[in-house]
Amino acid sequence: MTELDASLSGTFAIGGDLTVNRLGFGAMRITGKGIWGPPEDPEEAKATLRRLPELNVNFVDTAESYGPYISEELIGEVLAPYSKGTIIATKSGLTRTGPDQWHQLGRPEFLRQGAIQSLRRLKVEVIDLWQLHRIDTKTPREDQFGAIQQLQKDGIVRHVGLSEVSVEDIKEAQKYFKVATIQNMYNLVSRKAEDVLEYCEANNIGFIPWRPIDGGNLESTSSEFKAIMDKHQASASQIALAWMLKRSPVMLPIPGTGKVKHLEENVATAAIQLSDEDFKTLDAIGRKA
Ligand SMILES: NC(=O)c1ccc[n+]([C@@H]2O[C@H](COP(=O)([O-])OP(=O)(O)OC[C@H]3O[C@@H](n4cnc5c(N)ncnc54)[C@H](OP(=O)(O)O)[C@@H]3O)[C@@H](O)[C@H]2O)c1
Repeated sequence: MTELDASLSGTFAIGGDLTVNRLGFGAMRITGKGIWGPPEDPEEAKATLRRLPELNVNFVDTAESYGPYISEELIGEVLAPYSKGTIIATKSGLTRTGPDQWHQLGRPEFLRQGAIQSLRRLKVEVIDLWQLHRIDTKTPREDQFGAIQQLQKDGIVRHVGLSEVSVEDIKEAQKYFKVATIQNMYNLVSRKAEDVLEYCEANNIGFIPWRPIDGGNLESTSSEFKAIMDKHQASASQIALAWMLKRSPVMLPIPGTGKVKHLEENVATAAIQLSDEDFKTLDAIGRKA
């Protein structure tokens, strides 16, 4: 059986000082349908969380809006007090009115409330990595960035990240605080954020690709892809994750699942070493798709 150890994926120091194993975990899927309410199988979701430290997964991504609150609450219940070196990254800036309904809300008081309440739910004294889920187009940017700057000054959050942003957005935010990570949609077949990834790489900013296995929908699309899967006896998702880990040293994939078996399959990818040739073949397949 393949070795299950997320530390085989290598490490990255978030904000220069919080070192995590690069293959992380996305905690959006430990909630109900439409990312609303409790998970269908709470025991399985809890077992999935409990398995994380055993597999050396020490970087977990969540958000107050997942559930809402359910994901953060389960993490606090199952994982706190946290194993040494575990980093829980959370987010605020989206409010929820029902299943699959998400609305931007970046008013300073909402962002502050979000961060303070995340502290309680996650059972931590400081949020190691707090991310603005979206820049709210209806609230002045200086208000949002100013509120975040204040959260950092007040010691409520340690490092700050942004989500779904352009290079220009990052540069603007950097006038207010150091940007430690970016979380944009990115995977083998969705490469719109390539310029943002390159900026992150050049500036040692962690890049957290969301939807890293394309929602579990990846399949081999050619005989070349299939040959690489066969060589490693791996699924399309596993090969896509291995490709992502090799793509950049700042890459921190957070595949999401509420099932132990899927978590183990995802962590197994940390042990897959793709050759340079296979990497290039996959890169070309992904760009074409
Ligand atoms: N910043 C943002 O705006 C944003 C947006 C979306 C997501 N995120 C974050 O990014 C994380 C990852 O994104 P994501 O969860 O949407 O997409 P993903 O990781 O690409 O795919 C997750 C989906 O694939 C399934 N899956 C996971 N592992 C599998 C496996 N080994 N075999 C088969 N199916 C598998 C999961 O279902 P099961 O539960 O059944 O395994 C789930 O439906 C989220 O958990 C969240 O933390 C951020």
